[in-house]
Amino acid sequence: MRLFVAATPPPEALAQLQSAVAGVRSAPPELRWTRPDQWHLTLAFLGEVDDEARADLSVRLARTAVRHPPMRLALQGAGRFGDRVLWTRVTGDVAALRRLAASVRAAARRAGVAVEERPYRPHLTLARARDGTDLRPVVDALAGFAGRTWTAGELHLVRSHLGAGPDRTSRYELLDSWPLAGS
Ligand code: 2AM
Repeated sequence: MRLFVAATPPPEALAQLQSAVAGVRSAPPELRWTRPDQWHLTLAFLGEVDDEARADLSVRLARTAVRHPPMRLALQGAGRFGDRVLWTRVTGDVAALRRLAASVRAAARRAGVAVEERPYRPHLTLARARDGTDLRPVVDALAGFAGRTWTAGELHLVRSHLGAGPDRTSRYELLDSWPLAGS
């Protein structure tokens, strides 16, 4: 099964983001927007994981969650990965978020999952585009967005069902949650 580990902003933070995005949704028209009910911050993308590794993974992620404290985070402004991905920035206790992401990746590796070595860039993906789309106007239009601060207190293990959502988007299924219980 295709898995990733994520944190999810609370409904109020997502509603604020949704209002900000509603104001810029029309341009550029070729963007494929992600669905607000699926918005999340990916901590680690794990790809295909077999059942045996998944059992071990859950045990290790539970231990990871116990060692890390809840974090104060907010969403602010926007950025882009080239001309393909539009995202909103994560601010606040990003150092703690990075430490948590590194621990999650280490836990996954110990469970035998081949986690990508790409540097971690905290973000929440808002839209995807084709090569050659100029995302700068929409990044600029979202520059003033400043969401409220929230406490991220849970780690989520999520399954991605490719093409199983509306318009052949992915459908995300929450498999497991652990409270962040460190101090
Ligand atoms: P993204 O938000 O930057 O697109 C589920 O696909 C989640 O895992 C998405 O949030 C996606 O990040 C993230 N992810 C990271 N690396 C990925 C990859 N190689 N393929 C698919 N999703 C990936």
